Amino acid sequence: MNSLSTKHLLGIENITPEDIQMIFQVADNFKDVINRPIKKVPTLRDITIANLFFENSTRTKLSFELAEKRLSADVVNFSAASSSVKKGETLIDTVNNILAMKVDMVVIRHPSPGAALFLSKHIDSVIINAGDGTHEHPTQALLDAYSIREKLGDVKGKNVVIVGDILHSRVAISNIHCLKKLGANVKVCGPLTLMPKHIESLGVEVETNLKKALEWCDVANMLRIQHERQEVKYFPSLKEYTLQYGLTQDLLDELDKEIVIMHPGPINRGVEISSEIADSNNSIILSQVENGVAIRMAVIYLLAGKI
Ligand code: CP
Repeated sequence: MNSLSTKHLLGIENITPEDIQMIFQVADNFKDVINRPIKKVPTLRDITIANLFFENSTRTKLSFELAEKRLSADVVNFSAASSSVKKGETLIDTVNNILAMKVDMVVIRHPSPGAALFLSKHIDSVIINAGDGTHEHPTQALLDAYSIREKLGDVKGKNVVIVGDILHSRVAISNIHCLKKLGANVKVCGPLTLMPKHIESLGVEVETNLKKALEWCDVANMLRIQHERQEVKYFPSLKEYTLQYGLTQDLLDELDKEIVIMHPGPINRGVEISSEIADSNNSIILSQVENGVAIRMAVIYLLAGKI
């Protein structure tokens, strides 16, 4: 089998379209595996993986752990909230102590952009970025693009709008890189105060009118407002944000077509998306979660070949 062009998965920016297609092909096989009565393969019996979460997570943490266990890897979990980080231990010391216990691969989520890259330069282990601050969330983008491919047959040529807090969203940045590499047309939509400067340099258009964005798109990926990363107010009130950028059934009823609705989670129901839409037949939110396990199995499997 061919191998990935990279030893680590630090972001989508630095992997190739061929890498992404290879991950998708391997994920197709693992999706069959996780839908069998026996959902486990013995492939990584001799590999130990540490999941280091310095920031809260539900989906990503559980999905990585499940993916690792489905591949029969040994798994250790670390959560900063209950660790010696609270006593002042540095990131490097924490990870070196974990590696001294003979760990082969590290999955890291951290609030600082560049934390995964930093580790890859100082630690002799395969590193997978599970979200580093506002920088990248590569496995989320891979599972999102994989879910579009599954629903619409291909990503190439599709119109995808990413709506919401683009400024603080690692999901948006990784999605833009991934979708562009796969040949999709991408727009970002939201208030200009929540748009990064020079976002157009990534090959996307900015649209501030949600109705126009929806009329253009095949897929709308709705993001939450990341209050935890906002030090100042970017819009007058949450109510006003919802009035301008919240996805409602009324807005969808005005379209003369069906569109695919996505959300990476966690959802703020009634803010960026109504419950009715989140739970509708057009929503693939839970398929995204299911596909996350297959995609993470594929990434871990392919990177294990680099150990
Ligand atoms: N989508 C995502 O990263 O969710 P968690 O923060 O729950 O992992």
